[in-house]
Amino acid sequence: MQQQKIIILDFGSQTTQLIARRLRELDTFCEILPYNKFPVDDPDVIGVILSGSPYSVYDPEAFRVDLGQFRGRIPVLGICYGAQYISHTLGGRVEPAGSREYGRAHLSSIDLGDLLFRGFEPDSQVWMSHGDTITALPDGFHPIASTDHVRYAAYAADAEPIWGVQFHPEVFHSVQGTLLLRNFVVDICGGRQDWSPANFVEQTVEELRRQIGSDRVILGLSGGVDSSVAAVLLHRAVGRQLTCIFVDHGMLRKNEFQDVMRDYECLGLNVIGVDASDKFLADLDGVTEPEQKRKIIGRDFIEVFNAEARKIVESSSSAGKCRWLAQGTIYPDRIESLNITGKVIKSHHNVGGLPREMNLQLCEPLKWLFKDEVRRVGRSLGMPEHLITRHPFPGPGLAVRILGAITREKVRVLQEADDIFIRSLRQYKVRLSGEEARRVLAAGVPADMRDGEIEVSLYNQIWQAGATLLSDVRSVGVMGDERTYENPVALRAVTSTDAMTADWARLPYDFMARVSNDIINKVKGVNRVCYDISSKPPSTIEWE
Ligand code: XMP
Repeated sequence: MQQQKIIILDFGSQTTQLIARRLRELDTFCEILPYNKFPVDDPDVIGVILSGSPYSVYDPEAFRVDLGQFRGRIPVLGICYGAQYISHTLGGRVEPAGSREYGRAHLSSIDLGDLLFRGFEPDSQVWMSHGDTITALPDGFHPIASTDHVRYAAYAADAEPIWGVQFHPEVFHSVQGTLLLRNFVVDICGGRQDWSPANFVEQTVEELRRQIGSDRVILGLSGGVDSSVAAVLLHRAVGRQLTCIFVDHGMLRKNEFQDVMRDYECLGLNVIGVDASDKFLADLDGVTEPEQKRKIIGRDFIEVFNAEARKIVESSSSAGKCRWLAQGTIYPDRIESLNITGKVIKSHHNVGGLPREMNLQLCEPLKWLFKDEVRRVGRSLGMPEHLITRHPFPGPGLAVRILGAITREKVRVLQEADDIFIRSLRQYKVRLSGEEARRVLAAGVPADMRDGEIEVSLYNQIWQAGATLLSDVRSVGVMGDERTYENPVALRAVTSTDAMTADWARLPYDFMARVSNDIINKVKGVNRVCYDISSKPPSTIEWE
């Protein structure tokens, strides 16, 4: 079956990724491409969406696209800048808005007969965010919705499949925005809504088998959800041809190496566990500067991983030659690196750099998926829930959570404090009902039903949590009759959807009181517990 797709041309808007998210929620496959990379020869493209942009259509450096590449062949929807660009290019007029049109607005004079607005409420709320506005439409175009301040809030062409909306249907505050996108994708473009985890697994397994044949594949496991799902998917496709390498750098969470190895073995994966903690800790001895720590860990990791990979490559026979390096790269990793405005929001820290002589090709089976889709695929592969809902954990591990020089003893102290925090988050259950419960369930969070309410652990309600040891700071405390002079631990728990922005989680006071008591009473070397209440930006998730 051919994979129908919608192309989203990215003109640099902050919300381009959200358009893709909404389309995926509609079970439609879509791809974000830079504004100038429309795949003219791809027969599977059934529609195109032009995103918003930080530019005005009049900026000399504004991004421009040749509409002739798709006009008349497939339906086109312009959003905000996209709508203004189409109008401007085809002979309409775009001018600076008297006042910036920003925030909530209500549509009026909606043409409910237009396919784009099928099922809309007469005064549907939308979200506007633009400095320019369309003041005249091109010949052959007509308005299909207005607001109090925006005459051409939405338009359509009379005789060809082109639509434009100056509001942002992809954002939450456009209440019927998803319906509008559904109308475009399904009713106008003829999208099949068949992008489901089960279909993804079936198609990907087939493709992987074709791609890999009888070759062998190496994959680096981190214990995280992305690399684990990639491994199980590949295992489904090529079984024992896949060898996974899991490196213990000595700064994992308490018991994590053993626990995760056991999980992988239960899943039938062929995993080589490498305990390289002595090497890492020796190389880190006395190093305090965060970037230097990262560099040492990155370098050591490549060295250890490559040594194992080389053994596999060299021992593989010509019948089953090792030709592939698989990675759990996911879609947001790649979109960020494609960011066309050239602004790096987050640099990627994941390990790369296999020597050329190994001659391995990259295989990235999850490269089209968002994080929540990876989790859905993991569930559809039958993976255990605790592996799927595991919080993200940084590659350099507790090294970025020990401020100051790293020693085995500090790692042990931090592991204990972190373990108490994480276990408590798993144990503490919160009851939710109504809209909150629906939101949590829609996100696929595992929950128990009780008397019409749902019960969810704090762990599953937050994006990520952990403890940081401020090992250069000591403060006075009193325990029993004794004065202590020990380190503080800072707890951090954040809510987020992609780690690019994050807010501190509002954990219940009784929970925090219990965790603080537990840590101070049970972890020797810690006499004070703080909770980090900074958001990202301006802070980051990890302290480093
Ligand atoms: P920051 O601290 O930049 O973290 O707000 C954003 C997310 O990335 C994780 N993180 C890392 N992940 N290797 C990784 O694989 C790293 O070096 C690394 N540093 C930070 C962090 O835990 C958070 O989820």
